[in-house]
Amino acid sequence: MAWIASAFKALCLSFLFVSVACRSTNGSKVFNVRRYGANPDGKTDNVNTFTSIWKSACARSGSSKIYVPNGTFYLGGAVVFEGPCINQIEFIIDGTLLAPSNPGDIKNKTWINFRYINNLLISGAGTLDGQGKESWKLNDCSKNPSCPILAMNMGFAFVNNSRINGITSLNSKMGHFDFFSVHQFNITGVTIKAPGDSPNTDGLKFGFCSNIHISDTHIGTGDDCIAILSGVTDMDISNVKCGPGHGISVGSLGKGKDDKDVNGLTVRDTVFNGTSDGIRIKTWESSISQIVVSHLVYENIQMINVGNPINIDQTYCPYPPCKKKGESHVQIQDLKLTNIYGTSKNKVAVKLKCSKSFPCKNVELVDINLENKGAKGPSTAVCENVHGSALGKMVPEHCLNGPW
Ligand SMILES: *[C@@H]1O[C@H](CO)[C@@H](O)[C@H](O)[C@H]1NC(C)=O
Ligand SMILES: *[C@@H]1O[C@H](CO)[C@@H](O)[C@H](O)[C@H]1NC(C)=O
Ligand SMILES: *[C@@H]1O[C@H](CO)[C@@H](O)[C@H](O)[C@H]1NC(C)=O
Ligand SMILES: *[C@@H]1O[C@H](CO)[C@@H](O)[C@H](O)[C@H]1NC(C)=O
Ligand SMILES: *[C@@H]1O[C@H](CO)[C@@H](O)[C@H](O)[C@H]1NC(C)=O
Ligand SMILES: *[C@@H]1O[C@H](CO)[C@@H](O)[C@H](O)[C@H]1NC(C)=O
Repeated sequence: MAWIASAFKALCLSFLFVSVACRSTNGSKVFNVRRYGANPDGKTDNVNTFTSIWKSACARSGSSKIYVPNGTFYLGGAVVFEGPCINQIEFIIDGTLLAPSNPGDIKNKTWINFRYINNLLISGAGTLDGQGKESWKLNDCSKNPSCPILAMNMGFAFVNNSRINGITSLNSKMGHFDFFSVHQFNITGVTIKAPGDSPNTDGLKFGFCSNIHISDTHIGTGDDCIAILSGVTDMDISNVKCGPGHGISVGSLGKGKDDKDVNGLTVRDTVFNGTSDGIRIKTWESSISQIVVSHLVYENIQMINVGNPINIDQTYCPYPPCKKKGESHVQIQDLKLTNIYGTSKNKVAVKLKCSKSFPCKNVELVDINLENKGAKGPSTAVCENVHGSALGKMVPEHCLNGPW
């Protein structure tokens, strides 16, 4: 049979310049980056090669696959993959994409950027290695107004109907993945890793996004595992492992006057292990924008030795003193927590500190069982300006301010 195959191959080759018959019938084409000039020696800068492969793939009328095979492909600066593309594109990463270790080499807020694209699929068993170690010690923006820009590993802006499946993000300089104005996007089987003490290395960060599904994802990093910021609606999170890290956070919100509502979040079947916080909502003490955070559901959540398992803080001020402009104007309402269990590092396992001007409304607690493993006696709850109801097992005893 071999001769048939080789004869067919020869025939195909002879037609290479006149025909497209050797492509699969649906017109899909694979761009193996090595065959298009990328060098996997871990040193040669492949930015221009990758960008030109993207341009060819994006302009094809059939669907395209860009394939990054095993090997270390150095991308020595910011890369921008921009649409709109004619058809769908699959980016398969089996190898390693390596960032420069010098933060000044990436003259952008994000290292690998995807913009203005519909129907993008990123998959593979490969790794984005942000080489953040040298950058983390330069991260002093809270004290130094002329601090250097440190890049996030991968960013999506104005991307719809797309997904990431697989891949690992390692040691980003700042956050790992950033999503801005992204709609209908699924994230599954992703692994995110950076040391627990690496500053501002948020795992997944969202602003102005809708219809996002995150599942089967393991995040261990130095800041929020998932940060849900202004203007996010309809997000569904399940089977996530978070730790080390600062938990799954809504906010911080309310600082900018253009902040928008956050509405519709479900977090299910998730484990927080050794994190500083678990379920967290933070709004600035000096907040000015009058927005609503509503319809948040947390269900079947395990806490393993978590600093603050449940933590609503409407007086957020990470670098005091904060200029006080009155109470937070962010209204938190319709919050349901069901079957939240495990261990708290601090005695106060449930902290619900809401705004005096806009008390939290309709907070429902069902089957909470959070034990304090320290020697300081049983766990406790703290409430300020919070109205709601409790049902089922309640450890610690709740302190809600009557139904409202
Ligand atoms: C062609 O399309 C079919 C159905 O959409 C898909 O299963 C197959 O993988 C495609 N072929 C290639 C080579 O991409
Ligand atoms: C790529 O590397 C992975 C892990 O090192 C290995 O399991 C896989 O077989 C390799 N694939 C190829 C095509 O060499
Ligand atoms: C930096 O990123 C922005 C979008 O985030 C893009 O428009 C710009 O072209 C990038 N610059 C470089 C040098 O890559
Ligand atoms: C992406 O989705 C949003 C929200 O559904 C929509 O407003 C926007 O027009 C879409 N963009 C594209 C390029 O399809
Ligand atoms: C995302 O997942 C949801 C639920 O599993 C599914 O309905 C939707 O089609 C998926 N969207 C994309 C873009 O993969
Ligand atoms: C929690 O983290 C610790 C320390 O990293 C680890 O040994 C343990 O296996 C983890 N537990 C679970 C249930 O993942």
